[in-house]
Amino acid sequence: MKTVYLLNGPNLNLLGKRQPEIYGHETLADVVQSCTTTASALGLDLYAFQSNHEGAIIDKIHEARDKAAGIVINPGAFTHTSVAILDALNAFEGPVIEVHISNVHKREAFRHHSYVSLRAEGVIAGLGTEGYLAAVRRLAMLLA
Ligand code: DQA
Repeated sequence: MKTVYLLNGPNLNLLGKRQPEIYGHETLADVVQSCTTTASALGLDLYAFQSNHEGAIIDKIHEARDKAAGIVINPGAFTHTSVAILDALNAFEGPVIEVHISNVHKREAFRHHSYVSLRAEGVIAGLGTEGYLAAVRRLAMLLA
């Protein structure tokens, strides 16, 4: 069975508690559970990881080189700042889908640019936590 990595960046551990008017009421545990169910129905194994530390996310992307067929990533604020995460994703060979819960284009100008989008096969923004499920489905299609 192919494995996909679901990576979440800083502050996403507070999902459900942090600014629910922007990010909704679902927790990260809820998201991981529904993504695991969706992935398994599509014949994929899902491994989820969240960190508030850039280096820890980079280490997971390196690990994914040997362990994962594809990556779904919400890099949080690192989306807009991290050349290092982009470089790590460029060293990963499988498909990458970038997810943002909020519509970053409707928000502050500094959220309009994403380094990760230079690498991602697809970008989902503004679908709420449903965006993660759409990303898992898309990965399944790309990996079929
Ligand atoms: C986010 C959008 C980012 O701009 C923000 O820093 C986040 C979450 C989203 O999911 O909408 O932490 O990636």
